[in-house]
Amino acid sequence: MTTNPQARPAFGTVLADKMGIANFANGAWGAESVVPTAAIPMHPGAHVLHYASSCFEGFKAYRWADGSIHVFRMDRHIERMRQSARLLHLPVPDATQLERMILQTIDANRAQVPEPPGALYMRPVIFGDMPNIGAASQPSSEATLIVLASPVWDYFAGGMKPLRIYVEDQRHRTAEHLGIVKTGGNYAAAMGPTLEAKERHGIDQVLFCPGGSVQETGAANFLLFREGQVLTRSLDSTFLHGVTRDSLLTMARAMGFKVEERVFDVREMLEWVKDGEAALSGTAAVLAGVGTLVLRDGTEVRVGNGDVGPVTKKLRAALVAIQTGAAPDAYGWTRKV
Ligand SMILES: Cc1ncc(COP(=O)(O)O)c(C=O)c1O
Repeated sequence: MTTNPQARPAFGTVLADKMGIANFANGAWGAESVVPTAAIPMHPGAHVLHYASSCFEGFKAYRWADGSIHVFRMDRHIERMRQSARLLHLPVPDATQLERMILQTIDANRAQVPEPPGALYMRPVIFGDMPNIGAASQPSSEATLIVLASPVWDYFAGGMKPLRIYVEDQRHRTAEHLGIVKTGGNYAAAMGPTLEAKERHGIDQVLFCPGGSVQETGAANFLLFREGQVLTRSLDSTFLHGVTRDSLLTMARAMGFKVEERVFDVREMLEWVKDGEAALSGTAAVLAGVGTLVLRDGTEVRVGNGDVGPVTKKLRAALVAIQTGAAPDAYGWTRKV
């Protein structure tokens, strides 16, 4: 594995050699297998191609200093995947089978788990492949579950550089009842507003605040910090309930922070960042500090002094230490593979 950051492949562009696969037909999931990562045959009438019946997950396995491999909060990701499948009326994978497939896929790709700060990113995906182009309002009776693995390094090119975030205070990221689901359609819905803001304002990500209410960005949750304080949106159906978010809030509470989960608006956020911090949390981003907020009229608001703040750095380091085995895991979040 290369150590030159310039030479590292972009996030998600490299897939590990092996993948897990299982099929659902006749009302039941069949036996899983591990096969070479390669194209799969698909009927052009497959439900997913027309009606977007698919959901996925994303989480990481880390190589610890002694060479052992540990996966982070796999159980939570399995449960979120099952919830996504349920809400999309896709066949729900059996938790035990999905866990077995993930562990087998990590094991089959053991040699391709990078050293920290890299990791093996796990990407289970389920899609409906019933060949029926007339089934717009009918669930797919057939499905495929694939567990992909990808060695990853940096998500945001530049690593810990403070991010520029566009504050979208009108449009939604996704349909309000589906924000909680990890499904491709949500990313398709966010694509237009994101590309537009990138072109107009040269930003890294969009913070969706429909009607002025702060939600989340295109692929990460949003948190505000001050010394001893955390503020983030309370859980509802409009956004994805990040496992990283949950981990950070749990750790912050244990460190004595006052953690507030509630609805708040753009005005309050702009007050907060005068002397506070803002950050994006997610499996890929871990915890990435925000340096600048760009408003609709092009006004640029500096967050704190414009650099990644001390609370962001401290919480990020504490989480990464658990994930990579550098600190004891008091929460039982890591599992040896
Ligand atoms: C829309 C969205 N929100 C939040 C997150 C963060 O979730 P997690 O911390 O479970 O990775 C993600 C995925 O990384 C995401 O795609």
